[in-house]
Amino acid sequence: MTIYLDTHLDQKARRLRLYHGDVFVYSPRPTTTALTAFARQLIEDAFAPLTPEEAQHELPVERFVEIVAPLKPRFIHHRRTLELLRALLCDLSGDVEGTYFDVPRLRVATSHHYLDAGVAYPLHPHRDIWYGSPPCQLNWWLPVFPFESESSFAFHERYWNEPVPNSSHEYNHYHWNKTGRANAAKETKVDTRPQPKATGLLQLEPNVRVVCPPDGLVLFSGAHLHSTVPNTSGRTRFSIDFRTAHHDELVSVGGAPAIDRACTGTTLFELRRLSDLTPVPMDVIRLYDPNPPEDLDGVVYKPPVFTSSV
Ligand SMILES: [Fe+2]
Repeated sequence: MTIYLDTHLDQKARRLRLYHGDVFVYSPRPTTTALTAFARQLIEDAFAPLTPEEAQHELPVERFVEIVAPLKPRFIHHRRTLELLRALLCDLSGDVEGTYFDVPRLRVATSHHYLDAGVAYPLHPHRDIWYGSPPCQLNWWLPVFPFESESSFAFHERYWNEPVPNSSHEYNHYHWNKTGRANAAKETKVDTRPQPKATGLLQLEPNVRVVCPPDGLVLFSGAHLHSTVPNTSGRTRFSIDFRTAHHDELVSVGGAPAIDRACTGTTLFELRRLSDLTPVPMDVIRLYDPNPPEDLDGVVYKPPVFTSSV
């Protein structure tokens, strides 16, 4: 696995390397800084007068959840977020007709198991493609504040080529949208939402972690086995992530190897084209789900910023 910093490669060559497991890191640049700064402002407003990264030491966990639960959709569904995200992708992808993307998520990883469920669930080792994502999905990840190796996420590189026995056959993406997603804020102790997981023992060490400055960016394949590092930094980590897929690999069912994936349903209903926010064409979606549900209400996640503007 090679880690590229501020690559000179064009986006097509970059995609090919991403589908071989390489990782791309970018230094802060105006478009990443603009998106992260907006998230930072919303987070600071929500926690004021407390410092967001330190607030977990001041607040009962129920109050922390009360703050984070509305903060996440506020960021995700904000018109400004959508504008800034599209500007970032125009800058770093460039191919506005070929690139599809979804709305960003805001992740919260508290320190020392203060909150390990629901709105701050630390992701166990997983591949995103176990969750209904296409093998060509790319993950874009940006830290909002400075963070450490002890509050980062880890790549488990050896499993890039090695199948991991897992429970993805029990995961249906439409069922998840209907139940799991809606219940996140109710989970404050143990996360009970059924998620695809490795079913055997994993060798999680050694692993690779990338620490970049806030406003920097890490780009990697959704087929990588990765996990949230148990946060022992003493500070809550806030990060943004979103997904893209490119038309060329979508229509050829290309991308990274999908060596151990058995989920059903597809995330492709959630993506929009960068140029005009049109959805992924139905004939392309059928390549990933030959029998999509006839009634998409409730089983397909429709962020307001997409539904109101298309
Ligand atoms: Fe992930």
